[in-house]
Amino acid sequence: MTDTKHRVAIIGCGRLGQQYAEAYADFPDTEIVALAERNAERRKAVGERFGVKALYPDADSLLRDVVPDAAAVVTPTKYYKDAVIACAQAGVKGVSCDKPIAASLADADEMVRVCAERGVVFAGGNLQRAMSEVREAAQRIESGALGAVEGAALHCWGNQISGGGCQHISVLRLFTGAEVDEVIAWAAPQEVLGSGCDQGLTVNGRLHLTNGLDCPIYGKETPYGGVDVWSKEALVRWDWGPPEILEGYDDAGARLRVDPRYSDYPWREHYYLGTSIRSFLRSMETGSEPWVSGHDLRQALEVAVAAVHSARLGSVPVKLPLEDRSLALYPAPYRWLGGDATGRPQPVEEAAGRAS
Ligand SMILES: NC(=O)c1ccc[n+]([C@@H]2O[C@H](COP(=O)([O-])OP(=O)(O)OC[C@H]3O[C@@H](n4cnc5c(N)ncnc54)[C@H](O)[C@@H]3O)[C@@H](O)[C@H]2O)c1
Repeated sequence: MTDTKHRVAIIGCGRLGQQYAEAYADFPDTEIVALAERNAERRKAVGERFGVKALYPDADSLLRDVVPDAAAVVTPTKYYKDAVIACAQAGVKGVSCDKPIAASLADADEMVRVCAERGVVFAGGNLQRAMSEVREAAQRIESGALGAVEGAALHCWGNQISGGGCQHISVLRLFTGAEVDEVIAWAAPQEVLGSGCDQGLTVNGRLHLTNGLDCPIYGKETPYGGVDVWSKEALVRWDWGPPEILEGYDDAGARLRVDPRYSDYPWREHYYLGTSIRSFLRSMETGSEPWVSGHDLRQALEVAVAAVHSARLGSVPVKLPLEDRSLALYPAPYRWLGGDATGRPQPVEEAAGRAS
């Protein structure tokens, strides 16, 4: 931490935006200076809850008055691109959005490109890739302490492969230190595959990685639901929490679960959103890479788009990066359009922090 107090704006103050606000309000080196929220009642309630007076209906009106050091864009996904680019063009030092980054690859590319051209740190958000224990497990794998990685598998990569499935791809890339360079997939049901939206789609298939590994994709629980990476000596299992480590064998030849003894870490009350935001602030201060970057979000979207493209073509192996950047995959409607537009509005009592 430096002595600098980062001036932060939150753009989109719904359910997740309020979790960002809680973290930024709690950190001693950040101050929320402005909020943008489309829903007038919620805007007022969240402003009062966090003691912020500079309230605006959208990013553009906020940026006309205030250029914060950092902006957290937590609107529904449909509005990420315009808000992220507006922030970068207005001169913020760092901007974050959440998952999924976009529907089309072209939109994700543009967000990454504009931020890079302007030297703006572009971070992802509330992803388990930023969980302290996940980072520590990844370091142990990378150091070779758990043996040379020989295999990886994706489990239960279904229902929302660009939404929740973004978590799997981000952890897989971290644990293997590799990119996905080919995808072959089978997907069902057919009517969802043809819909252009990932909600309810089950995908099976195989990813090929740049380090030579072939990684099977299991669309359902196996019974595990995350990412396994293994060597002869050990297996690391991320299953939506601190990774399990199995190391060595018992007399029957079964892998042995060991106590991973993960280190304690600060800001654990904000869990992996907290560690993600801390790494974002560190990136602005030191130029280091955020633990979840806009690039990471884009790579995850691209694997999901490629899987659907492969399945639609009759399970053709598809090379990444995809040439056709107009390809898109829409997330579940509540992610794309938000709760107000899809019949799940957040009650004002909850937004005000008064719900029981
Ligand atoms: N990483 C995660 O674990 C995780 C979890 C939940 C949601 N998300 C993502 O976070 C995003 C928001 O989800 P949510 O659950 O908070 O939705 P939400 O509907 O509760 O909140 C979205 C808020 O944005 C506001 N809004 C809409 N358009 C706006 C605009 N143009 N400018 C300013 N405000 C605008 C809405 O009024 C609403 O208050 C989605 O993209 C979703 O996919 C990620």
